[in-house]
Formats: sequence, structure tokens, C-alpha cells
Amino acid sequence: MYIHISEIGDKVGKKVSLRGWIHRKRGSGKITFVVLRDHSGIVQISLKKESLPEKEWKVVDEVTVESSVSVNGTVVEDKRAPTGYEIQASGIQLISNSEPYPITEYQSTELLLDKRHLWLRSTKMTKIMKVRAAVFRHARHFLDSNGFFEITPPLITSSAGETGADMFTVDYFGKDAYLTESSQLYSEAMIYSLEKVYSFAPSFRAEKSRTVKHLAEYWHLEPEMAYYDINMTMELVEGLVSAIVSGLLKEDAELFEQAGADKNVLSHIKPPFKRITYEKAIEQLNSNGKSLSWGDDFGVEEERLLTEKEKVPVFVTYWPKEIKSFYMPINPEDERTVLCADLQAPGGHGEIVGGSERIWKYAEAVKRFKEVEKAKGTKFNMDNYSWYLDLLRYGGVPHAGFGMGMERLIKWVLNLDHIRDAIPFPRMMNRVSP
Ligand code: 4AD
Ligand code: MG
Repeated sequence: MYIHISEIGDKVGKKVSLRGWIHRKRGSGKITFVVLRDHSGIVQISLKKESLPEKEWKVVDEVTVESSVSVNGTVVEDKRAPTGYEIQASGIQLISNSEPYPITEYQSTELLLDKRHLWLRSTKMTKIMKVRAAVFRHARHFLDSNGFFEITPPLITSSAGETGADMFTVDYFGKDAYLTESSQLYSEAMIYSLEKVYSFAPSFRAEKSRTVKHLAEYWHLEPEMAYYDINMTMELVEGLVSAIVSGLLKEDAELFEQAGADKNVLSHIKPPFKRITYEKAIEQLNSNGKSLSWGDDFGVEEERLLTEKEKVPVFVTYWPKEIKSFYMPINPEDERTVLCADLQAPGGHGEIVGGSERIWKYAEAVKRFKEVEKAKGTKFNMDNYSWYLDLLRYGGVPHAGFGMGMERLIKWVLNLDHIRDAIPFPRMMNRVSP
């Protein structure tokens, strides 16, 4: 029976069988040391000519870095070995040989992206991908245990979920269709039967942004809740973000730290988060040397200035209606604004969540849609939204929801320099392969 490298600590003095890939190799005529890698870690294996059948010593001699092998041997404690243990091999079998590996130490970022399919084997990427899996698991677990149903939206669509300006067009049997930029409208359709739902799916953005936080394809978690207002929504966002972080700190602590998380920084992530109106945020930014006017959107620099010194995430609430989406209701207390809240990650990592109440009265929706149509020109075609308006014609209810960019969240918790490392195969303006 094969075990994983992480399990050998319990097997000192015993014989074990492992399988994995050759991470490193060095040696002389009679003894060779290889470092074996599997998903759980690395371990040094010592292979002595005298302890191996001739055929297997030939394997040792010829085996190259990244070849896959299985090994049997005895576990011994060894303080000099990188992980404190060593396997003294009594057998080695080649599973498959590796050609000379194209990734060596100190490679350019571009080469590592070209060879992404191989670079994913690196210790760095392995750890990030495990944290990614844990983030997805904690997010689902939180929503599943709070009365939500996971739903599966279509990814090819004929209606824009946001502005429509940044959608990829696909040839749909001779007609134009689009890759979805948000599943929100479909999540909304599902609340009329399931009440609290979330979709967890890719969103596509043809944004011509070359920044460290923009992907052309990203994973988007979009909960939608019947009878929620914006305050309940912010509380839910706080709960979700805190549950993901505390889940990682509790259940995945070692891995989380190894992947680059700072436990001390993240231990502050508990409700309540900070809340500030758009108006106050503008004042704050202007008193820090910016010269923004009412109605300006925030860029990377504004987001950084706003949250650089914060310990907890910051909700920026009640934005001007002109820079927010068509489905957001007007704020009755200030008609220039809408009932929405974006969550900014601390440390200048930028927006990780966008959420709002939704217009739920048919007449109000039609009025607002016409306004937006006028303001935005022909891109926003009402005919494509007749199904969406139907939702309000047949028993509309107050509701709200939000979208969280998973790679943005991962970039923040692991303090990554670039969002591309938060996803296995990043899609960016200049990259669509491998
Ligand atoms: O703010 P956005 O555009 O809002 C929506 O799409 C809403 N329909 C969501 C909803 O209410 N259901 O996007 C939501 C989040 C952003 O806060 C950000 O975290 C992420 O999606 N996001 C991106 N992540 C990576 N690359 C991009 N190009 C992103 N654009 C948005
Ligand atoms: Mg947004």
C-alpha cells in the first residue's frame, strides 16, 4: 500500500512505499540522493548501489528530474535531511521517464506562464492551489450551512448582466451571443422558488485592463437572497468573508502560512467590518491629496489609498447611480445614489465584493431601464430583458445579492503580487494559453 510523504513521521523504522516525481537528484558512483515530491510534500531518499538489484541501480543512474517513480524503503530520522526524515531505499521502479525539464531555477515570469502546465508542479503553485481549493470549500460550506441552495447558471447568454460593454461575443449558430459577465440575473430568477441561492461559476470580462487585479475569466460567487436589504447583505458578506478566513486559519493553518498568509494580519478579520459612504470616501481621499469630484469612480490608486492602513475590509456604500448598475434601486435618503455596497480588501488589494439591493417593483424597473437605455445608447436593449422584467411582473419580492471575485479574495489573503497566481490557467488580455 502506498502512503503519502506527509504520513512518514508516524512510520519511523518501518518500511513504506511512496510514489511521486523526482524533484532533485545528486550523487556519486555508489550513493545517490533524490528528493521525491508528491502532493503532500518532499522527502529525501538515499539509494545505495549495494542495497539495490542491478536493474534498479540502473534506474537510479538514468532517472531524470520530473520522472515519475515508486520507491520502497525504511523511514529513518535524519536531522540533516531537509524535512527531518530520510527514506533508505530498498527498491525503485520507474513509472515514466522525463525528458530534460524545461523549467530550471531563476526563470522569467513569461517563461513560467508559457510553461504554466508544468509550473503548476512547483511548490509555490501547489500550495496556492491547495489554499484555493480550501477557500472554495469554506465558502460553499458557509452558504450551505446558512440555508442557501447552490444553483448552476448558463454561461452563454443573450443579455448583459452588467454594463455589456465588456462581453466576449460568441457565434451562436450564426447569431451573436455572449459569455456571461455575471450570473446575477439568473440567480435572481431562482429566488422565486429557492429564496436563498448562490451561483459559483466563471464570469468573463473583455476588459482591456492590464492590471494586477484583472482577469478575463474569473470565478464568481454570486449569492442572491429574497427579503434581504443592503444592511442584511453587508452582514452576510462579513459573515462569509470571516468564515473563509477563520476556516483557513483553523483548518488549514500550516498550509495557509506556508502559502504566504500572515496569520497576525488575518486574525483581525472578524465582523463588523468598517463602513463608509462613497461621499465620505471621496472626502477622505481628497484630504489625502487626491482631487476627485462627486461621480468619479475609483481606480487602483484610490482603492490603495483608501485601505492601505486598514486592518479590516471596508464597505463603501451608496454610490452615485451613474456609475452603478441598472438593477440598483435609488437610495430614498439621497436620490443621487443607489442602495449598494462594495467591499474593499485591506492593505490596498482593492474591491473584492460588489453588492446591492435590486429594484423589485415592475414600474420602477421599467422607468430605470429606460433612463439607463437613454444614457448608455443602443448597447442596452430592453427586449433582451423581458424575461428579467417578468420576474417582477409575477410576484416580485424585495431582494438583494452580491458577487465576490474568488481570485481577488485569494490574492488578498495570500498577499500575492498578481491575481494570475490565484488561478491555475490565467486568462488575461495577452494570454489565452496554455
Ligand atoms: O462589481 P461586479 O462587476 O458586480 C457584478 O458583476 C454583480 N452582478 C455581482 C452581483 O451582485 N451578483 O463584480 C463583482 C466582483 C468584483 O467585486 C470583483 O471581486 C470581481 O467580481 N471582478 C473581477 N475579478 C477578477 N477579474 C476581473 N476582471 C473582475 N471584475 C470583477
Ligand atoms: Mg464592482
